[in-house]
Amino acid sequence: MKRLSATALLASYLGLASTLDFHVPESLPTNASPRLSVAPVGVSIEFFAFPGYVTNVPATKTCLQNLKDLTGTWPPLRIGGTTQDRATYDASSTEAVTYNVADPKDAPETLTFGPKLISLASEYGGRVTLGLNRRLNNLANTIAAAKLAKNSIPNLHAVELGNEPNFFSKNDPIAQGAAWSPAADYKSQVAWQDNVCGNLSTDALISAGVYFGTAPMSINGLTATEGDANRYVKQYCSHNYPQSKGTADLPKLMGHSSIATQIAPFKAEIAAAKSKNRPHVFGETNSATQGGGGISQTYGAALWILDYTMQSLVLGTEAFYFHQGTIGNCAYCWWGKYSMGAPYYGAYFATLALAGADNIAPLDDQTTPYAAYVIYKAGRPAKVLLYNSDYYVTGVRSQQSFRLTGLSASTVTAKRLTAPSSTSRVDRGANPSIAGQTFENGSCVIKGQSQDEIVTVVAGIATFTVEASEALLVYL
Ligand SMILES: *[C@@H]1O[C@H](CO)[C@@H](O)[C@H](O)[C@H]1NC(C)=O
Ligand SMILES: *[C@@H]1O[C@H](CO)[C@@H](O)[C@H](O)[C@H]1NC(C)=O
Repeated sequence: MKRLSATALLASYLGLASTLDFHVPESLPTNASPRLSVAPVGVSIEFFAFPGYVTNVPATKTCLQNLKDLTGTWPPLRIGGTTQDRATYDASSTEAVTYNVADPKDAPETLTFGPKLISLASEYGGRVTLGLNRRLNNLANTIAAAKLAKNSIPNLHAVELGNEPNFFSKNDPIAQGAAWSPAADYKSQVAWQDNVCGNLSTDALISAGVYFGTAPMSINGLTATEGDANRYVKQYCSHNYPQSKGTADLPKLMGHSSIATQIAPFKAEIAAAKSKNRPHVFGETNSATQGGGGISQTYGAALWILDYTMQSLVLGTEAFYFHQGTIGNCAYCWWGKYSMGAPYYGAYFATLALAGADNIAPLDDQTTPYAAYVIYKAGRPAKVLLYNSDYYVTGVRSQQSFRLTGLSASTVTAKRLTAPSSTSRVDRGANPSIAGQTFENGSCVIKGQSQDEIVTVVAGIATFTVEASEALLVYL
């Protein structure tokens, strides 16, 4: 496609004042991320729904495989969520999960699971984190499930002991009638780590914390009380949902500066994990809780995934587990039985950008809606990711020009993430695309030929135009 170079030429002849200039450092700058993991973008699947996703939703395998095809590694998987803390292990059950709900759109209030759930988890080709129950205070039951998981899931990465304990209350069995407080949770987490890992004779197994947000319970507080039990910890885990149904605000969700503000409190959590020599992960995350108030299924949420991932990697987190909830009742889900979700395009584009990368460094200071990142491989710039986070619904679509200097190739290629508008939804016929390609409803199979844009570099300089609510991945 020649569109880009023509626009670039026009922009430079007109001398558009708005052009942003960025120099691409040829070696790793000091603000680069730590070394990246091979596949930072993963999924979390709600505990009770996991068997259904892998046995009854055909897109599950292909959507994960598409990401694996980019990085060579299956995306990390976490099985857990609210229903892990409602679940009791039943060694004699022949079913993966057993529960009753009045409406198939409901999550169960109580459930049991059998060895079959763990055997389904053992079939996954990537890292598996399994969320087990602490809320019901049945330590022996959780130890039994953890033992089976450890002995039969070859890629078992970590086990969680409870989900979002900041929402536990005095009435939960774990509280034993006393007030539930940060101090009570820290003490309980450490005791459970001791008992579970003691019985399994293992170190470095637990995904610890599992807190929603950063206060009042925090990784900072937990690490201060871990002591020797830190040896049982594999990683420290935060959950993050920037918005809830009541406050759904798409321009804010996808805005480059507002993302920076939203994730800033996690800096201290990442530092606390690092001080204990352990990685930090966003072990469950997505755009908005409680269905998301109409924004979670939009293309704008895909743009949020893209920029949130890049900014958080720069802060030093290791991985993201984007949550997939009840099958057939899940606004932020990446795929369903019949339709794709627009957010998957953001996950795929983020994975495309990060595939094969060792580090990422921001070129901008997060004070404007326009982002630029350099992605490094073996200490050399390999790609540049540009993002125009201006919100767009109708009318004239504004553009931003980015002029990159310090390029060594004579031409570069680029892939564009775009959609008709920020509010585009696949289920309403407005499909996003990546270099012209889409994902087929129901199967997640990639459709169409990739249409790369080719841009000429003159004297180390090239200019790129990114429309409002678009991103461009430039291969240097
Ligand atoms: C194993 O767990 C039990 C509780 O079920 C606990 O009493 C015991 O101390 C644990 N053993 C080890 C070695 O940690
Ligand atoms: C997916 O299905 C929706 C209808 O639910 C349709 O409008 C859309 O165009 C389909 N997307 C693709 C990529 O085929």
